[in-house]
Amino acid sequence: MPLFLNLNLNIMNIFEALRQEHEIQRELVDKLTKTHGDTEERKKIFEQLKHELKIHADAEERHFYVPLMKKDLTQGKARHSVAEHHEMDELIEKLEDTEMDASNWLKLAKELAHIVIHHLDEEEHEVFQMAGKALTDKQKISLAEDYNKEIRKTR
Ligand SMILES: [Fe+2]
Ligand SMILES: [Fe+2]
Repeated sequence: MPLFLNLNLNIMNIFEALRQEHEIQRELVDKLTKTHGDTEERKKIFEQLKHELKIHADAEERHFYVPLMKKDLTQGKARHSVAEHHEMDELIEKLEDTEMDASNWLKLAKELAHIVIHHLDEEEHEVFQMAGKALTDKQKISLAEDYNKEIRKTR
């Protein structure tokens, strides 16, 4: 086997890079909705989720949605996704303004979980399909490199 084939094994495209992070978020929202009252566990998971959502949305907007906004095919979807990032931010603010042992807290957390899961599924099933057509293979790889570099710095 020629040597260069082996070198391709570690190369990731932007979809694989984003998907990895989505799995972390799915796990965290699931855990969060199973926590109770004003506990250390709830605080810890909420802080982790907040951080993961923020670093992902920042890097994703910069290294995925900005290039997609420049293409007619994907501009609408990109705008829609960025608007959903803002919706999630607003819910996080509401959660921060609510006492953790208030009955409303879990209701808001479940709402956040619902929006996050919907958002990730929509990205993976609809946005990735269109982005697959709009971006070149070279772009898919170089965006993953830029995205991963930013995530490594902020995590
Ligand atoms: Fe997103
Ligand atoms: Fe995402």
